[in-house]
This record gives sequence, structure tokens and C-alpha cells, in this order.
Amino acid sequence: MAKDFDRMEDSNPTANPSIHDVSDPGRRVVLRGGGLAAVAALFGPGALTACAGTANTPVNPAGLGRDIGFKGVAMAAGDTVVVPEGYRAQVLYRWGDPVGLAGQMPAFRPDASNSAADQAAQAGMHHDGMAYFPLDGARRGLLAINHEYTDDGLLHTDGMKTWSAEKVAKAMAAHGVSVIEVERAGDGWKTVLPSRYARRITARTPMRIAGPAAGHAMMKTAADPTGTMALGTFNNCANGQTPWGTYLTCEENFANYFEGPEQPDAHQKRWGLKKGGGFYRWHEHEERFDAVKHPNEFNRFGWVVEIDPMDPASTPVKRSALGRAAHEGAATALTAGGKAVVYMGEDARFEYIYKFVSRDAMKPGGFAANRELLDHGTLYVARFDVDGTGEWLPLVHGQGPLTAAHGFADQGEVLIKSRQASDKLGGTKMDRPEWTTVDPISKQVYCTLTNNASRGQAGQPYMDAANPRANNTMGQIIRWKEQGDLDGVKFTWDHLVLAGDPTLPREGAKGNIRGDTFGSPDGLWVDPRGVLWIQTDVSTSTLGKGDYVNLPNNQMLACDPTKGEIRRFLVGPAGCEVTGIAMAPDLRTMFVNFQHPGESPSERSDPEAPGRYSNWPDGGRPRSATVVITRSDAGVIGT
Ligand code: FEO
Ligand code: CA
Ligand code: CA
Repeated sequence: MAKDFDRMEDSNPTANPSIHDVSDPGRRVVLRGGGLAAVAALFGPGALTACAGTANTPVNPAGLGRDIGFKGVAMAAGDTVVVPEGYRAQVLYRWGDPVGLAGQMPAFRPDASNSAADQAAQAGMHHDGMAYFPLDGARRGLLAINHEYTDDGLLHTDGMKTWSAEKVAKAMAAHGVSVIEVERAGDGWKTVLPSRYARRITARTPMRIAGPAAGHAMMKTAADPTGTMALGTFNNCANGQTPWGTYLTCEENFANYFEGPEQPDAHQKRWGLKKGGGFYRWHEHEERFDAVKHPNEFNRFGWVVEIDPMDPASTPVKRSALGRAAHEGAATALTAGGKAVVYMGEDARFEYIYKFVSRDAMKPGGFAANRELLDHGTLYVARFDVDGTGEWLPLVHGQGPLTAAHGFADQGEVLIKSRQASDKLGGTKMDRPEWTTVDPISKQVYCTLTNNASRGQAGQPYMDAANPRANNTMGQIIRWKEQGDLDGVKFTWDHLVLAGDPTLPREGAKGNIRGDTFGSPDGLWVDPRGVLWIQTDVSTSTLGKGDYVNLPNNQMLACDPTKGEIRRFLVGPAGCEVTGIAMAPDLRTMFVNFQHPGESPSERSDPEAPGRYSNWPDGGRPRSATVVITRSDAGVIGT
């Protein structure tokens, strides 16, 4: 989601240890001057291993290199998807399309007059993270797709001119996750209707709370005195896909759904709860979102939720061991010994990067054999030091400052208050960590730091080595390599790129470096052959202006990280954000999500309101959608 209206939290007031602060401008020269050649020397070429980051595809499918071979596209300002020569883009699954529930497949009504019940059987709004789960290899599979938020001006026929319980119900039904069955059909793909796998998970779907915070006093509510069953998931941003076949969906800016008290306590304040903060106005018709009356409901959001896409009757599980955050994504990989490692960014200004390492190794047998794998393990927060090394600091109750004396009664409280724990431990306050991804071949881990205009401003944290630019409007991609295996507690790091200013990003890089300009990197995924895909989310108020004067639309780029080459692969329709990516296992089909086409500066305004400027994809109301990208010659994408 673009962050135009200060709906992103900005609630980290701590002055963490300054060990990683850059007071020596020379350090910045060293960092940049080292460039990619130095990084290559540091990390060395990775060996092929069997530890794929995702479930669906073997690492480095035979004969495929990282080389990118398509003809890059020029930046564009139109209301269409621009793909390279020889490629085609087919709209597959738009907001309002039926998900495929047998006997319940309401057609989308262009005037948005579908009921809340209809919406619960249709694609939600504003697609985000996504993963492909094969049923028949690259011919047929399931797509799990996040629906991050609603733009209520578009969702209802008369927008927000009136507000009612029915509108809240429809908005809640338009949030969450879709599971759809998709299959090849002729030259393209289609959604299988109906499908026995089809499912909508919404803001009202019952889900189990598991791990150390389950049943904790801070998780108990009047409706759930056990503190173990929550209703729904929302603001599902990026995602993860586990090697045991499940989908991870991440609850990001949950604070905006709760109306807080006039005088929030320290915990509420640290998590952005405030009076007037109930932006989505659900609290006006559903009391659990009134945090004055039900303060603990707030603690039951901000988690990573695990979903078994193969079983539409399964109960999603909130995995509290992974910590609470404005969670962006949950990139999952395995150590050589089979432990699960989950990397997570918390997208808010001056928040943190996390990693979870499971106690146990994954067992063969899919989810049935690994139902508690994400319930036991250690959560860490990252500290990036000025010398290019870093350390993972454990969020373990009783260790260091994480004791009752500092407000952490037990491990459950450490996890519910992950931010406060990270403040105490001295994690590095980052420039809005969005997606993370693990290169399955080299084991380098990448994270997008999308931007942070507050960096270095009066009263705000100063620049540091990892976040080296004041008023950082363009963002950067940071990467690290763990010492030893992925469960190592020390690492070395560098920037892949400081985005935006062409005099900075590739400064010092050696060899055949060339690249297209971009800013505000957000979606990020290393595919099974090692190509790094970068998706951008420049906010609507900024596109085409100021530092973004030459970037009127959002885009997706491909990078060969061994060469440092970054090439524009596609440009999205006007006002959209490009977010969400998956590929079929043969890498001949790519799925990409385009969110909030035509988003207006006021976001929730009615479709006719000034500033709404897209009719993508079909004319009429703009609709977020999943698009299938293939090559006319059916070749491998990107080569
Ligand atoms: Fe939902 Fe941080 O983007
Ligand atoms: Ca995002
Ligand atoms: Ca974003």
C-alpha cells in the first residue's frame, strides 16, 4: 500500500545504541566504493543446494542461468500493462471475480452493488503478496493471493456518502486471502470455476492463535476468554511460502483498524493506537474494533498467519512465535539441517528486520508432519554495524534486558511487545523494511528498504551505515550473508543498490553494470534460477513529481545480482502499485499483481472524484488484478 496519508505508524521514539551510526562520511565512501566486486569477493559463489526458498520449484531448474535476456521496456505513463517485446499480459483475477465456490459464484457488478455476501465469494480488493502451489506441475495449481485493504470509495456504489453495518461487512469480506485454482487454457490461463479448493479467508474467518502468546492474558477478550481463537486477518501485505507447502500471509498496518483511547498507554502508543486512528471505520459498527472497550483485541493482530491452501476447511493459524509487527513478508528457507528460517521486515519508519529460526527440523510429509514447526524456535532482530558486519539479537525472555523488571513478564509478552523488546536490544532502526527474499543458490538474503523521508530530519534518527541517506525518498536494497548457515547469529552485509539517483546507486560498481532507474522498491523475490525481481510502490502523491519526475508509473525490474544489472521488465497501469509475484515451476508463466490502479490522492474518494484516473483493466471502476505474463513463443520468462 502506498503510504500517502500518514497512516503508517511512526511510533519508534527510542534512541538505540549509536554503534552503527555513521558519523564518519568516509565510511559511506568505503561502503559504496566497495561495490559489487567487493561483495562478490566477500560472499563468494554459492554452491547449489537442495534448500529451496519455496515449495514449488527445484532450485535452479536444469540449464537455467541468471542471465536476463529480454529487451527492457521504457518507462510509460499510460493506463495499461507494458511488457517486453515477445511477451503478453492477460488479466486473470480481478477484484469482484468469483473465487469459485460451488453454487456461489456471483458476477461482479460494475456499479459495485454486490452485497457483502457476494463479496465473500468474490476476489477481495487490492491484491498483494501471492504464491503458486502446483496441483499438476506448471499446468494447474492454486494461487493464494492477499487482499491488503479496501478503498471504500470504490467498494460501495455510493462510496462513503453513507456508512453502515452492511458496508463494514462488505469491507471485511473484501479483505484477507483468496485461494483460487488456475489452469492453462489455450495460450493463456483461466480460473477453474467452481473448484473444490476455492476459498476466501476474510476479516471474520476464525483462526487459531498458536505459539508462546496463545492464551496469554494480553490476548484474552470478552468474546474469547481463552485467548486462543481470533476472528479474521486484515491488511495482508506480503507473504511467504513454506517448503512444507503452506502459505504465510502477513498482517501489516493493523493499527488503522482500531479506534484508540484519548490517552493511550505506553504499549498502545508504541504500536500506533490512538483516538481517531480507526481509519477504516469498522469500530462504528463492530465493537471489537473499539480499543477503549476491548483493548486486547488489538494485540491479536500484527501476526504471520499460516494457511494450508490444499484444505479449504482448515483453520488458519496465527504463529505468535514469529513475533508481532506491522508485518510485511515472511520469506522462508531451510538450513542444511532442515530448520526453518523466516525473514521478516516490519514496514514502518525506523522499525526492524527480524528472523525466526525453528527449534526443530522440517520432517518429510508436508504440513501434516510440520504443524508445529513454526511454534517453537528463536526470534531475532537485526543489528547492522558500521563495519559491514551484523548480529542477530535474540528476543528471548530472561536474556539481557528482556525481564519482568523491564516490562516483559514472559515470552508471550516479549512477542506481543516485539517492538519494545527490539528497542531494548538495540536493533537497527531501518528505512521501512518491506519484502525479504533468500537467494536459493547463493543464500544471500535481500530486503527492500522502501524509503524514509523522515530519516535525518529534525528530531528523527540520524543516518547510519545501513540507512545512509537523509530524507531518503528513493529507498535501497540491503543484502546480507549469514556466517555459517542461515541460522547463524552473525552476518556480513552491503547494499545491492541505493535506488533512484543514478549518480549513487551503482557508484563504484565494476564491470558491465547498467540499469534502469527506479525508486521505492517493495516487492522482492529471487526466483529459483537466481534472478532477483524488484517491484516498486512509489506513493501516488509522489509519482511523476519531485525525485520521481521521470517515473510516472510503478514498475517491475529484473536483476542479475552477480552482474549488478537491473533491467525494467514491465510498467503497470496508471496509479497502481506493482506487488505480488509467483511463477509456475517451469518458469514459463509468471503471475503479477497490480494493486489500486488509479489510486487518487485521497485514496478513498468516489470513482468519479477528481484525481481518479484509471479505468484499468476493463473500463469503469479500476480493479486490482492478478495478471498472467507469458512469452509468445512459450519460452522461459526473463531469459
Ligand atoms: Fe503493504 Fe509495506 O506495504
Ligand atoms: Ca508492500
Ligand atoms: Ca509499500
